[in-house]
Amino acid sequence: MTLISPSLLAADFGNLQKEVLAIDKAGADWLHLDIMDGHFVPNLTFGPQVIRTLRPLTKLVFDTHLMVEGPEEMLKWFADAGSDIITVHFEACKNLAQTLKEIKKLGKKAGVSLRPQTNEKVLEPFLDDIDLILVMTVNPGFGGQAFMSEQLNKLAKIKKMVEGKDILIEVDGGINASNADLCVNAGADALVAGSYIFKSDNYASAIYTLKNSGEKL
Ligand code: DX5
Ligand code: ZN
Repeated sequence: MTLISPSLLAADFGNLQKEVLAIDKAGADWLHLDIMDGHFVPNLTFGPQVIRTLRPLTKLVFDTHLMVEGPEEMLKWFADAGSDIITVHFEACKNLAQTLKEIKKLGKKAGVSLRPQTNEKVLEPFLDDIDLILVMTVNPGFGGQAFMSEQLNKLAKIKKMVEGKDILIEVDGGINASNADLCVNAGADALVAGSYIFKSDNYASAIYTLKNSGEKL
């Protein structure tokens, strides 16, 4: 079954603790934490202090998506705050091989994300050090944008590229009930969904729908 990682960005920020407890109870697998720095993307979100505050509430895997320029300096902050997966952007790293090594040294799973415009081939030299590839299906920076279906092609190519390797593929941006099947059939192991889950009136049924996506061709 597909792993579901609700994006906290779409939650009620006045009630974050309540939202995390509700999403845990509703059957989520991971919790997607979008970190934006106002440089790599034109938006600001939150930092490690928020993650540290939420960490004791749940055993959900903390899936941290760093949309920041120069993430190297910040890896330890997010590792210490309680992240389980730390994903950096290919476009934001000066030395990706070194950054991936650092994440592993901190005892965390190492992810790499690609903007929609970035060709998947750039990851080929790094595959042995990558635990997760996060495929963006919107331009990073904001929740609630429309899914870019032309990214499905790239997703299928990535699936082929990682064949036989221990690498999970996660898709992020504009995921909902009508495109989740396409993503899973093209190779997604995990789906991020912000608006679709948090703007629904029943988190459990929204998660259930996404978890059971795929096939039905
Ligand atoms: C966008 C973020 C996404 C976003 C997803 O830059 O990386 O994780 O929160 O939100 P939805 O599902 O609303 O597109
Ligand atoms: Zn994200």
